[in-house]
Amino acid sequence: MATLFDRHRLGDLELPDRVVMAPMTRVRAAASGLATPSMAVYYAQRATAGLIISEGVQPNPVGQSNPGTPGLYTDEQMASWRPVTDAVHANGGRIFAQLMHGGRVSHPDTTGLQPVGPSAVAAAGKVFTPTGPQSAPARRALETAEVSEQARSYAEAARRAVGAGFDGVGFDGVGFDGVGFDGVGFDGVELHGANGCLISQVLSSNANPRTDSYGGPIAHRIRFAVEAVAATVDAVGAARTAIRLSPGGTFWGVEETEVPELYAALLAELARFDLAYVHLEATAEEEVLVGLRRAWPGTLIVNPVLPMGPEQADRTAADHWLGLGADLISSGRALIANPDLIERLRIGLPVAPADETTYYQGGDAGYLTCSACQYTAA
Ligand SMILES: Cc1cc2nc3c(=O)[nH]c(=O)nc-3n(C[C@H](O)[C@H](O)[C@H](O)COP(=O)(O)O)c2cc1C
Repeated sequence: MATLFDRHRLGDLELPDRVVMAPMTRVRAAASGLATPSMAVYYAQRATAGLIISEGVQPNPVGQSNPGTPGLYTDEQMASWRPVTDAVHANGGRIFAQLMHGGRVSHPDTTGLQPVGPSAVAAAGKVFTPTGPQSAPARRALETAEVSEQARSYAEAARRAVGAGFDGVGFDGVGFDGVGFDGVGFDGVELHGANGCLISQVLSSNANPRTDSYGGPIAHRIRFAVEAVAATVDAVGAARTAIRLSPGGTFWGVEETEVPELYAALLAELARFDLAYVHLEATAEEEVLVGLRRAWPGTLIVNPVLPMGPEQADRTAADHWLGLGADLISSGRALIANPDLIERLRIGLPVAPADETTYYQGGDAGYLTCSACQYTAA
């Protein structure tokens, strides 16, 4: 059985260990969705992870879910990420950008736009706004033609992130907006298809009562995810494209029927591409996830606990999933408080608990300053 400290080949990347930093929104971007110098330090501090997956990054304005999240749809945003990817690489790390389109989990007070989704069905619970949590607002069902436009927005952001051409090698041609660019040095992108975000809303049965080719039977409900992946693969190459999924998850009120069949069908379609990886959250019964492991021929990352649940993944949970066939294990909260988590696990040092009060606020406090941090802000 593989251990957390074995190497793993991921496309062109050689990961030195099997601990992946899970994507975590920390809402510390500057105005206009810009990455900041503190973000460069934060990610560089965690460069010993086999792979870092960034916080959720909106691929277009209407996809912004929370105030203070960064984007990858303007030239200014793009340029702001370069010091982040450079800092990670200078410290020996690798980083994918998570492309997160919130769909109905958004608010006009945050974006100035009416949120969109597969239908007008509201998200359950409150969404974040600049003045605090508010009930999910009125949203608009996407027209059929607009659904594929949203799918292409992931590809456009991926090209800004990675900058590869259609053949998967360095891209220096013309972008979708007619401006040439090379990307800003991300090693790949993970499409956020989990946790009640737009892709997850379209996969769901209750958030998506559509009767067109994107709603109803399983073959229709998986279409948006497959289109978004296919467009991204065309833009940056399959080795730089990945997706995160939460089978059976119920975040922000999404529900899914026929969970094993839905995800088996989705993975069967995605297996046509030689993707970097699929990232599964432990949101379904273990036997369902093990079935999906068998169905997925490529690299599988497992996040071993229920996101935002009371339990935090530990070494035992990681080893359990490596034993069940996961290739890589993602870890979130432990890496907030322990940037040197891999070394701590390797030599058996205690893992400090994260301070929840600084998850989404506090500037550099609880972000760059934690008991276990090796570096300080420049
Ligand atoms: C502060 C915070 C922010 C998060 N933001 C995201 C996000 O942007 N995208 C995502 O897919 N998951 C997000 N998650 C979920 C984590 O990626 C992870 O699945 C969860 O924390 C469980 O793993 P853990 O027990 O190792 O922390 C977030 C979790 C936390 C604690």
